[in-house]
Parts: sequence; structure tokens; C-alpha cells
Amino acid sequence: MAQAVCFLFLLPAATVISHLVPVAATARAEKMVAAPSPLPTSPPPDCPDTCGDVNIPYPFGIGEPCSWHGKYNLTCNHTFNPPRPYLGNTEVVDISVESGEIRVRTPISSLCYNSSYDYVNTTLTFHVELFLISAARNEFTAIGCNTLALLQGLKYYSGCISSCVSLVDAAARDSDKCNGLGCCQTSIPENLDYIAVNWDLTSRGNTSDNPVWEFNPCSYAFVAEKGWYQFDLKDLQNSAFVRKLGDRTVTDVPVVLDWAIRADGPYCPPPIMKDGVIGEPTASACVSANSHCVNATQGSGYLCNCSTGYTGNPYVIGGCTNIDECTRPNDFPCHGVCKDTDGSYECNCRAGYESDGDPKKNPCRPKLSSLAKHIIGITVGASILFFIILGTGVCYMLKQIEQKAKERELEAIERKNGSERLKNVKTLILFTKDELDKITMNNSVPLGKGGFGEVHKGTLSDKTEVAVKASNEVTQGTLEKFVEEVEIQSRMMHRNILKLLGCCLRVDVPLLVYEYAAKGSLKDILHGKHNDQQREPLTLRSRLDIAIGSAQGCLPYMDPVYKDTGRLTPKSDVYSFGIVLLELICRRPAVDGENILVKQFKSVYEQDNTGRVFFDKDIAEEQDIPILDEIGKLAMKCLNENVNERPAMASVASTLVILKDSWEEKSQSSSSTSIN
Ligand SMILES: *[C@@H]1O[C@H](CO)[C@@H](O)[C@H](O)[C@H]1NC(C)=O
Ligand SMILES: *[C@@H]1O[C@H](CO)[C@@H](O)[C@H](O)[C@H]1NC(C)=O
Ligand SMILES: *[C@@H]1O[C@H](CO)[C@@H](O)[C@H](O)[C@H]1NC(C)=O
Ligand SMILES: *[C@@H]1O[C@H](CO)[C@@H](O)[C@H](O)[C@H]1NC(C)=O
Ligand SMILES: *[C@@H]1O[C@H](CO)[C@@H](O)[C@H](O)[C@H]1NC(C)=O
Ligand SMILES: *[C@@H]1O[C@H](CO)[C@@H](O)[C@H](O)[C@H]1NC(C)=O
Ligand SMILES: *[C@@H]1O[C@H](CO)[C@@H](O)[C@H](O)[C@H]1NC(C)=O
Repeated sequence: MAQAVCFLFLLPAATVISHLVPVAATARAEKMVAAPSPLPTSPPPDCPDTCGDVNIPYPFGIGEPCSWHGKYNLTCNHTFNPPRPYLGNTEVVDISVESGEIRVRTPISSLCYNSSYDYVNTTLTFHVELFLISAARNEFTAIGCNTLALLQGLKYYSGCISSCVSLVDAAARDSDKCNGLGCCQTSIPENLDYIAVNWDLTSRGNTSDNPVWEFNPCSYAFVAEKGWYQFDLKDLQNSAFVRKLGDRTVTDVPVVLDWAIRADGPYCPPPIMKDGVIGEPTASACVSANSHCVNATQGSGYLCNCSTGYTGNPYVIGGCTNIDECTRPNDFPCHGVCKDTDGSYECNCRAGYESDGDPKKNPCRPKLSSLAKHIIGITVGASILFFIILGTGVCYMLKQIEQKAKERELEAIERKNGSERLKNVKTLILFTKDELDKITMNNSVPLGKGGFGEVHKGTLSDKTEVAVKASNEVTQGTLEKFVEEVEIQSRMMHRNILKLLGCCLRVDVPLLVYEYAAKGSLKDILHGKHNDQQREPLTLRSRLDIAIGSAQGCLPYMDPVYKDTGRLTPKSDVYSFGIVLLELICRRPAVDGENILVKQFKSVYEQDNTGRVFFDKDIAEEQDIPILDEIGKLAMKCLNENVNERPAMASVASTLVILKDSWEEKSQSSSSTSIN
């Protein structure tokens, strides 16, 4: 009794929704109490399996006796040529048993304005026990300018807004996608068996300043298969929505519905363990051997499917048949000899061939005997070894050649820096650059900046502390001077003079290695290393000793920094010595910023024949002033601009000795008198 309303409803376009909803609900309620159908569960032999061009697989059938439990009942309308199958009033385009889907055609909604609004709302109701609108395969589309189309389900309400101020706007779109300009799209939710599409009439407006109607007479809206609609500007301009379907002109759109066996228990039951093996889940509609059930895509119920290796219709006895995999190499690859089996296929390499693993995946290759394998293994191994040895040998040779070239280069540098002569100086150690890097720990302890770059501290293997500093670059013109200088410095033996221990000639600019005086060079002692606080007290006696000691050798070598004068003539030494004398009595650096000690002292000396104002206050005690005057005078002589008028170093030294002696005599007698 209720079956007449239980199938699919496609209500006439003019049906009012408020009427429709109760009708659909009533239909469902009545179905639930319906008695089990006496109709057959498999089709009688004379049932047609096509209608026109459309296949009608069981459980669908033309007429109640041909469909499963009389439920999936289609009519075949032979008025058309070819005939068309219908589900109630809805045309069926195709049916898939494998995916559990059918495709139907449904009318669209439209909203047109000619002299008054003239709109069509569509309402679609599908039987919930059989069909649900596929959420995955459909979408809601609205086309028009200033359009708000509404999509309504039983517990669902949605809308899609499309706007365009003019046709130019709509035409300016850069794609045929529905992006809200002239056309919009939105997805739909699951489990819909009822939808109504209608219009918000106010959105279009009807004013002279918004004459959308003039260029866009109609708006359209519909739920249709995803990807089916491509935007066409004509849909905005025309007052009808028409498409071609084969040689037909249609105004309706395709919709995909999910179907399932929903009346025979709610789900596909979980698989059962049988003899320790997990069996395939089955349900009563899955009557074919080698078939099983799967849960419905949406909603309750299940679908049947053939087992792996079988194809066909699982809803009929013997429907699932073996797949001959060997005839479909693209779907079922085999690199060897293919042999079809029931539900599967074998793939083996032919005799004398083998594959790494599965010949269904990997190609077959001729088999090798174990002897051949061994021979290949040994050959490959031996050649790898050979190439390793060859490679190592070549590398070694290249390294040797490279090293030789480097050595030759270093030797040339060494010769340029005077190694031929200096290697004969027995007291001089010739270091290599590597040795020096080790000694100075890669110049990690700087001692300060000398005249020619940084001085770094180092430690020899016998724990002697040394100071390493760069010399001048040696050229052909300066070679003689440099060698002489190094020779002299290396022979120096005096406690106030830094001794040159060795040098490194295998670098562009030779490096000089001095014994490191912990108290610093004379310069450091006199003027402090960094600031005045670090200056140590220095008695007049010490200063005289230093002066006399220094006058035994060549002064420029007292302090490596003085070497920058670079003069080796005796008279220029005398000049330099004069500076040292001034530094000793004044305890001021020879050059202190803009102040040049010699100049300042000279200008004072020329006025009163002494430079007393410059004497170091530490030693300028009254009784010592005369000797300081004398030393100042001696310094002035040494600093004579005229080289020839400078005294000889010997006479300077003896003058100093005499001065010291007389000063000691005097101070002894004065101290003895004071003691007495
Ligand atoms: C379309 O829907 C609107 C809004 O629900 C309603 O007012 C109108 O009567 C419907 N039109 C038709 C033809 O059903
Ligand atoms: C099944 O199809 C037949 C023939 O078209 C029709 O008379 C009958 O009403 C249909 N049954 C249902 C339940 O729709
Ligand atoms: C077949 O379709 C035509 C045209 O829509 C219709 O007039 C006719 O009633 C249909 N026949 C059946 C049996 O449904
Ligand atoms: C049935 O099996 C085929 C092949 O394994 C598969 O592609 C298809 O999705 C299955 N159908 C369902 C409804 O699970
Ligand atoms: C408006 O056009 C529709 C078709 O587009 C037509 O059915 C309707 O009768 C027309 N209304 C008027 C008042 O002309
Ligand atoms: C739209 O405007 C026209 C012309 O002003 C008027 O005749 C018609 O009644 C209006 N329609 C509506 C639905 O307001
Ligand atoms: C089908 O779904 C039900 C409910 O979610 C579940 O209990 C059952 O195990 C499912 N069947 C299969 C074969 O997955």
C-alpha cells in the first residue's frame, strides 16, 4: 500500500515546500511498518538488463518482479528512441553496482523578470531508504547577477551569493570557475535525501538605479554533479538555461545519488573468524560466491562487492566471475610468463631466467650458474681493489709532486731572504713556518705592536720563552743589510739586550725570534707597556748601567722597535744612542704623539745649556743634577745634526764610564758623610 509513495519523489516544480515535507515524512513512517515483501531476491530469467542505452544491473530492474524485493523498480519509457529508464519521474542516466551510485537528471530553479517576477523553485525528495544525494560528488551552483539562491534540507539551510555590477564585470572573469562573480558554488552536507532550492527575491532589487534585469534577465540555481557546470556568459544573457545532451536539448542537470541495500539490517556486519581465518563479511543481498559486503558510503546499510580477483554482479548468484589478469597487463603487471588462476594469477620467469624478488614487479634476467656468479664476484672485487690501489698510488704521486714544487718554492723564498749566508751562523736557529706556528700556537698570544706589525709570544721546546716578530720585506737592495743585521743581533750577549735566537726565512717577510724578556724591552721598561702605572722604578745606577751596556753593541738592536731606523753606520748608531740617553734621563718616549723628545730637549737646551725641566723627577735629586747635566750634554753631542761632529761610540762609552765612576765616588762619600 505504501509502496506507491516509497520510491523516488520528484515533485512538480510548483509544489509548495510546506506541503512537501509532511508528505515525505509520512511516506517514511509508513514504510517502516510495512510487511516483508514476498517478491523474489533474484531476477526471473526473462528480465531485461538494459533500457535503451542504459544497463540495468540487479538489484535494479524494469518492473517490480525484476528488482530486488521489488524496491529498485524502474520504468522504461519506450516513447523515446532510444527508450529511457525512469525512477518515478526522474530520468536515470546510469547505474553503477561497483561504486553504489546512480546518476539522474533533475530540473533547475530559475528566477526571471520580464514584466513581473516569474520564478521556479525546485524541490527534490529521494527515498531515504534507497537514495541519498552524494555529498562527495555534487555541489550547489547559483548563476546570476546580484543573486542569493537558497538551499534547504530538513535540518539544513545554506545560500550562495553571486554578484556582478554589469556584464562587463562578469565578462572580465579570468576563468570558467564559479568564484562569486556572475556565478557561485558551494559544497553540500552528507545524508541529504530532501532539498529545496528557492530564491531571496529582495537581493535582485527592482529599482531604476539597479537595472540588473536589463542585462541579466534570469538567475539559475541547482545541485549538480561536481565539475559538470562550466561558467558561460550566455547563461547571464539568455532567458533560458539550456544544454546539449547527445542530440537532445535539456534544461535539467545531472545529480549523483548514493544507493545501498538499506532495508536488510542496518550495516555490513564485522567479519567472522572461521577455522582461524578471517572470513569476508557477508550479508543476505550478496548472493554471489566470491563476494562480500561493505558499509554504505553514507547513511545506513551496505553494498555488495566482488572479492579481489573477481568481477561482475555480486547481487546475483554466480555474478562474481574470475578476472583473467593475463589479458589486462596494465592493471596486473607480469614481467615473466603469466598464468591465470581462480581469483588471482601466477607470474614466473621462464626457465633459465630469474628476477630479483617478484617478477610481477621486477624484470626477469638470464640465470647465472653459481660458478659464473663466483667468477663475476671475484672479477668485480678484484677490479674494485685494483682501482682503489691505482687511485691511492696516483693520489700519492700527485701529492709528492705537489710537495716537491712547494718545497722548491720555499727554497727560493729562503734564498731570497739570505739563507745561503745565514745558515752558516752557528748561533742562529732557522725555523720553518710550521715550527713557528707551533711555537707561537698560531700567534695566539700577542705581546703588542712593534714598528712592523704584531709581536707574538711563543715557547720553544726547551721552555724558553720567545717573542716572534716580522722583519722588513727583504729585497735585493736590502738583502746585504738584513743579513748583516741578523748576524750581529744573533751574536749579541748582553743582559739588557734582547737576544736574537733564530729566524724563519721560508716566508715572504722573514720572522725574527727573540728571547722574550719577561720585563719587556728597554722601551717597555722605560715607558711602561701600556700605561704609566706599570712603569717600574728605575734607579739612576741602573740607567747608567743600561747606557754603558748598550754603548758595547749596536743600539738599534737593543729594542727590535729601534731597528726601524735601519742604519748600521757607527755614526748613526751614535745619534740613536743620543736618543736613548735622553730617554733614560727623561724617561719619556722618543716620539710621543706629536712631541718629539729630541726637538723639545734641544729647544730648551739651546736656551740655558741644560734640559733640566725634562729630567725624570724620580732621579733628579739635587746631588745628581750635575751628572744628569753631563749626560744631557753628551746626548746633545751625539744628536748633532752634522754627522762628522758626533763623537765616536767608543768615546761616548768611555765618557759614560768616567761619569759613572766619579758619580759613584761622590755619592759614596756623601752617603758615608750622611751616615757619619
Ligand atoms: C519559492 O519559494 C519562495 C520562498 O520560500 C516561496 O515564497 C514561493 O512561493 C516559492 N515559489 C514556488 C513557485 O514554489
Ligand atoms: C514499478 O514499476 C511499475 C511499472 O512502471 C509501476 O507500475 C509501479 O508503480 C512501480 N512500483 C513502484 C513501487 O514504484
Ligand atoms: C514517457 O514519457 C512521455 C514524455 O515525457 C510521457 O508523456 C509518457 O507518459 C511516459 N510514459 C510512461 C509509461 O511513463
Ligand atoms: C568494490 O571493489 C572494487 C575493486 O576492488 C573497488 O574499486 C570499489 O570501490 C569497491 N566498491 C565499494 C563500494 O567499496
Ligand atoms: C515571463 O517569462 C516566462 C518564461 O521565461 C513566461 O513563462 C512567463 O509567462 C512570462 N511572464 C510574463 C508576464 O510575460
Ligand atoms: C518592479 O518594477 C516594475 C516597474 O517599476 C513594477 O511594475 C513591478 O511591479 C516591480 N516588481 C516588483 C516585484 O516589485
Ligand atoms: C560497518 O559499520 C558498522 C557500524 O559502524 C561496524 O560495526 C561494522 O564493523 C562495519 N562493517 C565493516 C565490514 O566494516
